[in-house]
Amino acid sequence: IDIKQFREDLLNWFMAEQRNLPWRQDQDPYKVWVSEIMLQQTKVDTVIPYFNRFIDQFPSIEALSEAEEEKVLKAWEGLGYYSRARNLHSAVKEVKEKYGGVVPNTPEEISTLRGVGPYTAGAILSIAYGVPEPAVDGNVMRVLSRILSIWDDIAKPKTRKIFEEAVRTLISHDNPSYFNQALMELGALICTPTSPSCLLCPVRDHCQAFHEGTQTDLPVKTKT
Ligand code: ADE
Repeated sequence: IDIKQFREDLLNWFMAEQRNLPWRQDQDPYKVWVSEIMLQQTKVDTVIPYFNRFIDQFPSIEALSEAEEEKVLKAWEGLGYYSRARNLHSAVKEVKEKYGGVVPNTPEEISTLRGVGPYTAGAILSIAYGVPEPAVDGNVMRVLSRILSIWDDIAKPKTRKIFEEAVRTLISHDNPSYFNQALMELGALICTPTSPSCLLCPVRDHCQAFHEGTQTDLPVKTKT
């Protein structure tokens, strides 16, 4: 793979085709954080109105840290997985108290926050702070399993590290934010689970699975 050309093709596509999503209006780490937590188990179309209402009601770290838990859970009502809301609220209070209201910008510190796993840490660090960290979720594993022809079972917890190492070699250090978001966007719009739109794909020339006709055999995911 020609990494430079791959990055350029991916980023040019993202700049032209990215969806206008409410959490892409600015790089506020708090808003990136809220959006990434909401998006973990919930689809983009469902998240949009919840995200907008949540930010209207709790516009900042300060505002959320001062809110009653009951109000926070009420705002989350309908999204499900309420531990996400409780963890977010608790972690935001910790950011207020321990970090003066500033979301930490290192992998070590941000990962100590409740509910902030490796994916969320990488997403906030790259999107809000431009730190070249991987943000590997199921969508990114699907996209990269195809481009790089990686046949490891994505249902196995250990496999994520393999993809993180792949991202570390591919990621643009000039624009880690767009690079990671472009991988997510490609997974959402083009490199979909069952019928990927390879003929529209901006990086199909770089895609080993497309070259070999194996795109629908990847990723490998054993049933749990
Ligand atoms: N899914 C997870 N994070 C996302 C993001 N930042 N934009 C679009 N879809 C996502």
